[in-house]
Amino acid sequence: MLLFDQKRELKDYLQKERVSVRSIGLVPTMGALHKGHVSLVKKALQENDLVVVSIFVNPTQFDNKDDLQKYPRSLKDDLDTLNLVSPDIVVFAPTIDAMYGNNVQSQSYEFDGLDKIMEGEFRKGHFDGVGTIVELLLKTVTPNNAYFGEKDFQQLQIIKKMVASKNLPYQIIGCPIEREPHGLAMSSRNERLSKTTRKEAGFIHKILMAAKSKFGTENAKDIAAWVRSEFEKNQVLDLEYFQIADEDTLTPLTKRKKNTKYRAFIAVYADGVRLIDNLRLN
Ligand code: PAJ
Repeated sequence: MLLFDQKRELKDYLQKERVSVRSIGLVPTMGALHKGHVSLVKKALQENDLVVVSIFVNPTQFDNKDDLQKYPRSLKDDLDTLNLVSPDIVVFAPTIDAMYGNNVQSQSYEFDGLDKIMEGEFRKGHFDGVGTIVELLLKTVTPNNAYFGEKDFQQLQIIKKMVASKNLPYQIIGCPIEREPHGLAMSSRNERLSKTTRKEAGFIHKILMAAKSKFGTENAKDIAAWVRSEFEKNQVLDLEYFQIADEDTLTPLTKRKKNTKYRAFIAVYADGVRLIDNLRLN
């Protein structure tokens, strides 16, 4: 396994490799790797000759200092995890300094309103931070393909929008959500939950599945009201938002349109940890 912590060295290495490989895949992560991340890495390995995994807890996308501080960091374990998947993976794990220099700041993006709802509404500045780091990573690695999970569906759509609007020559590929056996979407943040809360958090997926079955016969407003009432009864989980939206535009559903894919999006607090999930409804 090759490990880089400087942009210049990684770029020089990739420039030499590029002549002999057909395609390079990039999997950006913030580390504390789990099976969700690994599924992206495996897909990237299937579809590319060379795969770069970046591990960088990006300060500019955190709107909450406490969340940034408590974000799990486990580089050694992460390298072991990746090595088991394939010893040929190239890892890029820079320090904040090496990534941003002395300008640890977000750029401002125009995401056509995709960033104003749901995660954008509740985490101010978050998507400018994501856009900034992903653009930097893409321009450092210049991959053919970059892999993102549907777990962060709004993030995936926003990155697609950024790449399209800036005409960047990278293909953005979405990958399905990996779940724990009881349905909870895998997340680095799950490590911060107590054992009982983690078990209880399977409720989030159950509610999404129930919303999906109601979607055939009930309207979005009634489903949302039902979801809120179910969370009011729950002692462990606090609902932040539940929203049914058009999958492509992320516009909240008011009147159902033909040939449109809808998804339910949810954010929940458990033990002070923020968990998000989503599910295709039709
Ligand atoms: P992070 O939360 O580490 O996630 C890295 C990638 O793994 C993201 O594309 C995310 O959607 C995907 N992922 C996480 N959990 C998953 C799961 N259970 N199933 C499938 N994919 C999953 O998302 C970020 O980091 C950052 O915002 C980043 C894009 C790296 C920019 O800093």
